[in-house]
Amino acid sequence: MTSPVATNDLSALPTLSTELHDINEEQLNHFATAAETMIAQAIDVPALQNLRVQFTGKKSALTGWSKQLGKLDSSDKKTYGGWLHGVRSRIQEALSAQQQQLEADALSAKLESERIDITLPARGGQKGHLHPVTMTAQRMQQFFVQAGFNVATGPEVESDYYNFEALNIPAHHPARAMHDTFYFDAHYLLRTHTSPVQIRTMEKKAPPIRIICPGRVYRNDSDQTHSPMFHQLEGLMVTESSTFAELKGLISEFLEAFFGKQLTVRFRPSFFPFTEPSAEVDILDDNGKWLEVMGCGMVHPQVLTNCDIDADKYTGFAFGMGIERFAMLYYGIDDLRLFFQNDVRFLKQFS
Ligand code: FA5
Ligand code: MG
Repeated sequence: MTSPVATNDLSALPTLSTELHDINEEQLNHFATAAETMIAQAIDVPALQNLRVQFTGKKSALTGWSKQLGKLDSSDKKTYGGWLHGVRSRIQEALSAQQQQLEADALSAKLESERIDITLPARGGQKGHLHPVTMTAQRMQQFFVQAGFNVATGPEVESDYYNFEALNIPAHHPARAMHDTFYFDAHYLLRTHTSPVQIRTMEKKAPPIRIICPGRVYRNDSDQTHSPMFHQLEGLMVTESSTFAELKGLISEFLEAFFGKQLTVRFRPSFFPFTEPSAEVDILDDNGKWLEVMGCGMVHPQVLTNCDIDADKYTGFAFGMGIERFAMLYYGIDDLRLFFQNDVRFLKQFS
């Protein structure tokens, strides 16, 4: 590469007299050729600018000669004028040609440096998906929404009144021991089930009522089938004619739709202070073990009364399903805690 200094060095130019009448056409042509050569060697725009000043600027030899044209007689003026004009045109053409060349070079260097090799193999994006418990909850919800149930919600930080009292579980009632409750203080707790949403709904709305409530619940409980935070899907239907037969029919239809096949199911008589009669539903898992998936029953008349609903006129049924338990059975997972360990290798299998 030529050093930029070289372009300032005019020693390569033929030395011509500063006096115009001492110079002939051949010398001027020679001068123009030498200038063209130097211009074509300018390595960058500043170097070229330098040459532009040296060859065509106010202090250049060319300008010096041109100033002398006025002193010549008209025939010489025409001759010399023509020559000088020829030299200036050649130099200006060379300058603009080199300018274009340098710009084109700069552009292709820039394009080259920014080039993307589209033939390189891609790094491979990781596509995420919903959590298996979320997918299970959505599928469960979908069935009931199609069956005409509305979705209701309630707070996870709940009062003792809604979580227990209004559900016919007074203080010191032995049933409280069934829920290993996380208390904040004497009045507030993390809800242990979604049943308080039954109360919140019945307080606000007159029958007929058809709601489901999916949500997080908390209990101080942890083993293969229990987790301290888990999800329930509550259901509540209150009309003038709800029956246990209807409850059983709805649950059976749901189970068939959810699993898409017949499973071995049992309705086991049970006890909840807020339903009478009550049952729990168990399903036989792949290992021949019964897994409890929900509690249900006819809404206790006292609970209706607590919400100012006429218990002589209306009857209702309710259920509370363990969403993780449905996910376990559906995906064949025998330890529910796997859902919450966030091991990508485990979660990836559900895409
Ligand atoms: C209840 O929570 C009642 N509220 C259900 C109910 C609603 C009955 C309406 C009647 C009317 P239970 O404590 O059995 O019931 O819990 C319901 C379901 O939640 C269980 O059958 C089980 O599937 C699931 N479950 C309970 N505890 C856990 C836990 N620690 N981890 C995961 N799932 C659980
Ligand atoms: Mg139970």
